[in-house]
Amino acid sequence: MQAAVKIATATAGEALRERFAARTARVGVVGLGYVGLPLALEFAKAGFSVTGIDVEEEKVARLNWGDSYIQDVSSDLLTGMVNNNRFSATSDFSVIAELDTINIAVPTPLRKTKDPDMSYVVAACQQVAEHMGPGKLVILESTTYPGTTDELVLPMLERTGLKVGEDFFLCFSPERIDPGNPKYHTHNIPKVVGGITPACTEMGRLFYSQALEKVIPVSSTSVAEMVKLLENTFRMINIGLVNELAMMCDRMGINIWEVIDAAATKPFGFMPFYPGPGLGGHCIPIDPFYLSWKSKQAGIEARFIELAGYINGQMPHFLVDKVQNALNDAGKPLKGSHVHVLGVAYKRDIDDVRESPALDMMLLMEQKGAQVTYSDPYVPTLRLCDRELKSCDLLAMGAQADCVLVATDHTAVDYAAVLERARLIVDARNVFKNHVSAKIVRL
Ligand SMILES: NC(=O)c1ccc[n+]([C@@H]2O[C@H](COP(=O)([O-])OP(=O)(O)OC[C@H]3O[C@@H](n4cnc5c(N)ncnc54)[C@H](O)[C@@H]3O)[C@@H](O)[C@H]2O)c1
Repeated sequence: MQAAVKIATATAGEALRERFAARTARVGVVGLGYVGLPLALEFAKAGFSVTGIDVEEEKVARLNWGDSYIQDVSSDLLTGMVNNNRFSATSDFSVIAELDTINIAVPTPLRKTKDPDMSYVVAACQQVAEHMGPGKLVILESTTYPGTTDELVLPMLERTGLKVGEDFFLCFSPERIDPGNPKYHTHNIPKVVGGITPACTEMGRLFYSQALEKVIPVSSTSVAEMVKLLENTFRMINIGLVNELAMMCDRMGINIWEVIDAAATKPFGFMPFYPGPGLGGHCIPIDPFYLSWKSKQAGIEARFIELAGYINGQMPHFLVDKVQNALNDAGKPLKGSHVHVLGVAYKRDIDDVRESPALDMMLLMEQKGAQVTYSDPYVPTLRLCDRELKSCDLLAMGAQADCVLVATDHTAVDYAAVLERARLIVDARNVFKNHVSAKIVRL
């Protein structure tokens, strides 16, 4: 029996290895968003035939037309890959039966109670299990709590009767993509991977090394899951710390930005983080709560996470108070004033508004009776509750508004022109660092 298993392992693994080396392995990616689409194209560029699977038929149709909806993936590259049959997209999960590798990159949001919402991962894994067969490598990339791959995904796949590490290979590999980053992208961000068994880890390592610059194998799926949570929790807590310092400095009349810049001249032991209107995006505000949920089950309260979450959550209120005070000082109450929000994406030079604190500030100001408009070169339209807003002409609207609130520091904006026209500016991002003007109120 033992010998038979060994032969099966060798056979499944060897066949996959040979297909990697010959570029004949059929690669599949489930979930074609910010993470899945760039990953799929990386393998297509490396010479593999890649099938992308997504539940949204409109996205599938656009991709097969060569029309990219992800800012970091050019439609030219996509069209080239579609035309030479290296990439195609589908909503039909039965193609999984023909694939050798399946990477899963579906959303992992939080429920209203701040508990993990695993419904997308479960739905995707159910589909994989339904079309599972021997010899496949399955890798979960969705950010999640430690233990997910082992406790949730593995039982679903082993229910097929196939044995992990022998008949199929299962890994977790955190995605570390930083949308809008011109220097680091899927290809050159080192890829951490951990498998359920050493054979799984080795298969994951071999797979990624076909297309990515550097792969870092770790000893288990839980370590790989925890790596991502450490990275994002580290950011969230340091941002929380610097946001608290920003509120202290504001009270004491000290310029926090100058403090950080000076501290950052220390050549060791310090890493600058910057304050702002709060956390945004699909990662930093969400992922640490996956960890605190899991750690609560292990009997440990994640106090740093809860505290940083609270401080970061105060920042939109703090900035709205700043707008209100600045307007009061100018003799205009916020109620009835017009505030123009410059930048609604959650960070610089991207089009993503998920969890963006700019939206929280817009709603807060509306609740206080202000009229709010916005402009953002990357976000032409915006859904705010049940309304659709349109990005306005910045300079015209900035001149009309009683106050311009700089919520996002996009580089394409002509800030000098904004300063010239605006009556009052609240700068949450230090874009007016080099300007001295009584019109500017800084965070
Ligand atoms: N966006 C980032 O910068 C980033 C960075 C690192 C990690 N992550 C993590 O990666 C995961 C994916 O994030 P994203 O930003 O790519 O999300 P996204 O919303 O951009 O993309 C997810 C895609 O999955 C599809 N989908 C949903 N359910 C599906 C199912 N059952 N089967 C197939 N497709 C399905 C959606 O239609 C969507 O196209 C999340 O866990 C996220 O936390 C995101």
